[in-house]
Amino acid sequence: MTLEGKHILLGISGGIAAYKMPMVVRLLKKQGAEVKVVLTEAASRFVSELSLATVSEEPVLRDIFPQSLQSDQDWTRHISLGEWADALVIAPATANTIARITAGLCDDLLSTTCITLRPNRPRLLFPAMDGEMYHSASVQRNIAWLQNNDWQVVEPESGALASGQCGTGRMPEPEVIAATIEEALGTRISDSPLARKKIVVTAGPTRENIDGVRFLSNYSSGKMGYAVACAAARRGARVSLVSGPVQLETPVGVERIDVTTALDMDQTVRRLSGDCDIFIGAAAVADYRPTHPVAGKIKKHAETMQLELVRNPDILAGFAQQRQPHQLAIGFALETDGNHDLAMQKLRAKQLDLIAYNTFDGHSSGFEVDTNRLTLISRDGTQTPLPLLSKRDAANRLLDAIEHLITGN
Ligand SMILES: Cc1cc2nc3c(=O)[nH]c(=O)nc-3n(C[C@H](O)[C@H](O)[C@H](O)COP(=O)(O)O)c2cc1C
Repeated sequence: MTLEGKHILLGISGGIAAYKMPMVVRLLKKQGAEVKVVLTEAASRFVSELSLATVSEEPVLRDIFPQSLQSDQDWTRHISLGEWADALVIAPATANTIARITAGLCDDLLSTTCITLRPNRPRLLFPAMDGEMYHSASVQRNIAWLQNNDWQVVEPESGALASGQCGTGRMPEPEVIAATIEEALGTRISDSPLARKKIVVTAGPTRENIDGVRFLSNYSSGKMGYAVACAAARRGARVSLVSGPVQLETPVGVERIDVTTALDMDQTVRRLSGDCDIFIGAAAVADYRPTHPVAGKIKKHAETMQLELVRNPDILAGFAQQRQPHQLAIGFALETDGNHDLAMQKLRAKQLDLIAYNTFDGHSSGFEVDTNRLTLISRDGTQTPLPLLSKRDAANRLLDAIEHLITGN
């Protein structure tokens, strides 16, 4: 039983696909999960509370407020459910519920639980609606926001819809929903070529001390490297994430090691990467550090000041030079002048297997933002330009290319 002892909170909102949910509950229970169901007011018009209570063997939850003031009531269930759940799944997710979660509303039990769910727990959303609704600007904008805020949004399928039309918007079948939940909880053995591979990913900036209170650094947010680590873990890889100082949650199923300077990062990568299968250098490692950092605070004296810098080790090249034949070395190259040749030179000079050329345009692609435009360049010179994508989608495209390197097809 792949979900033995797991607590799954299933939120159902008011779409026609709600009729599939008793079957989803059954499949999850069959795998050993404990399932609690939260129903929106509209959902109760589409699926029977009695069916859901019977298959989940639990009362169905609808109200934030307790029915009575008896002491056996859970008066703060809006918080306790968020603590209880190992994963929160909303299926079907209506356009309305998607908008309410995105706006941070807390006026029913489901939307409130979305906020009280503990960090680091998978949160999955299965949008299901008419094709026009799904492609509307507001739904697409809300989905993009959710994807960039730790929600795994599972694309609806195309085909016949309840509206009688054909289009994208159909919720996947119960078996697919149950399998996706197992994958998100890391309890399903993925059939990806990356499953069980050991992957070391670096992410974020490094800080190079000038004195006790100042440092040199860059604008890297770590979002791209974290997205890669998260996507690799989802494919069943054993991921170690060596992270510079960033403001991000550790992705589910990822081992995170925090470092500060390039020298720290170099040492940690050397320690972890000896037996890894793949090294992915996504960190923006400072090229130089102050030669003589001062212990206290440097005092203000002359009008000008010279700061001598010394080269930092090239962590990616260091790994690539010493690696075993089976180990893959993957890098990122951020350039501001749109020159792909520099990325190609970097790939050759560092003997990498693949490099992701990262366009920096200062607003939609590069540091800090949630989207990125990558061109994947392989050893034989093949360039695969990707459109502007969320960093999550860009990470998945990069991993697809790495899988291709492993399998050769
Ligand atoms: C027959 C019928 C089917 C509906 N199907 C959907 C649907 O599949 N997806 C959707 O987003 N809204 C659908 N709606 C509209 C929602 O029920 C409505 O927006 C409701 O306010 C959603 O509330 P909730 O998100 O709190 O559950 C449907 C409405 C009706 C009457």
